[in-house]
Amino acid sequence: MYPLRRNRRLRQSDAIRSLVRETIITPNDFIVPLFVTEGKGIKEEIASMPNYYRYSLDLLAVEAKELWSLGLKSVLLFVKVSDSLKDNSGTEALNVDGLMQRAIKTVKNAVPEMLVMTDVALDPYSIYGHDGIVSGGKILNDDSSAVLAEMALSHAKAGADIVAPSDMMDGRIFEMRTLLEDEGFYDTGIMSYSAKYASAFYGPFRDALDSAPVDIQDIPKDKQTYQMDYANRDEAIRETLMDIEEGADIVMVKPGLCYLDIVRDIKNAVDVPVAVYQVSGEYAMLKAAAERGWLNHDAVMMEQVTAIKRAGASMMASYFAKDVVKLIS
Ligand code: PBG
Repeated sequence: MYPLRRNRRLRQSDAIRSLVRETIITPNDFIVPLFVTEGKGIKEEIASMPNYYRYSLDLLAVEAKELWSLGLKSVLLFVKVSDSLKDNSGTEALNVDGLMQRAIKTVKNAVPEMLVMTDVALDPYSIYGHDGIVSGGKILNDDSSAVLAEMALSHAKAGADIVAPSDMMDGRIFEMRTLLEDEGFYDTGIMSYSAKYASAFYGPFRDALDSAPVDIQDIPKDKQTYQMDYANRDEAIRETLMDIEEGADIVMVKPGLCYLDIVRDIKNAVDVPVAVYQVSGEYAMLKAAAERGWLNHDAVMMEQVTAIKRAGASMMASYFAKDVVKLIS
């Protein structure tokens, strides 16, 4: 008696494995998150994100050019706002000459073909570190959505190709889409963080932008009233289908690795591209383990990004984008 089928035949050599490989990583898979700060000549490393930096606008331009030369054609911008400009209504977020608005123009001037995506949420602008307006111990939904729509419009006016609302307010995609259409921005895309979980993996990101929720009495100390409970699966589908109905062009699952079941569920349920955000804590974990010699950095990194794509992601925002592209080129 012989085994009827011998699957190992197709694993015998690198040549045969390459031939039957189902998932290939290329530079086209990546969106590069970039952190921007005020000043000049600044490239400061983020303490909890080794080898990841905040750039002032002059060095943001240099970085954008380098990314383009590596074949990385999309960036996702985040800004670190000084405390003096923070309030509870997102005033600075709408400033036509604010840091985000200038960052968009800087990247577009440096590399006109670069796809520029922008984070739309109030947390970097909020004295409370919340994604929306806080009142009576709550994050106000509709008032926040209205400001977020104005924020998206402001980014579009500055030249953003795609706005990426990461706030999880109900109905904000509809508000945004309606305002963009009303104002003639028909071609501005919306990449919705549609299934965004209340995750402890965002810690290093909040260090990078100094945007963590504050610990003040009567102010919610976490984001659980708007971001999703990580115990839930059906809810992710509901959120995502609603965002598509409301006008999202691309939907996103966030974080990445712990949520690949959700990615596959959503991939099977929708007919728009699905993005994944491999978040700051996922990056920090691997960097820390690799620094100690406990994990092989490059091997684990490739395994992770391949798993994200295999699960159904058409694209991923990843802090590893440059490392990966350098490794595979
Ligand atoms: C802001 C925002 C966060 C991230 C992206 N946009 C943090 C949060 O929701 O608290 C997290 C990204 C990361 O951890 O890499 N709304």
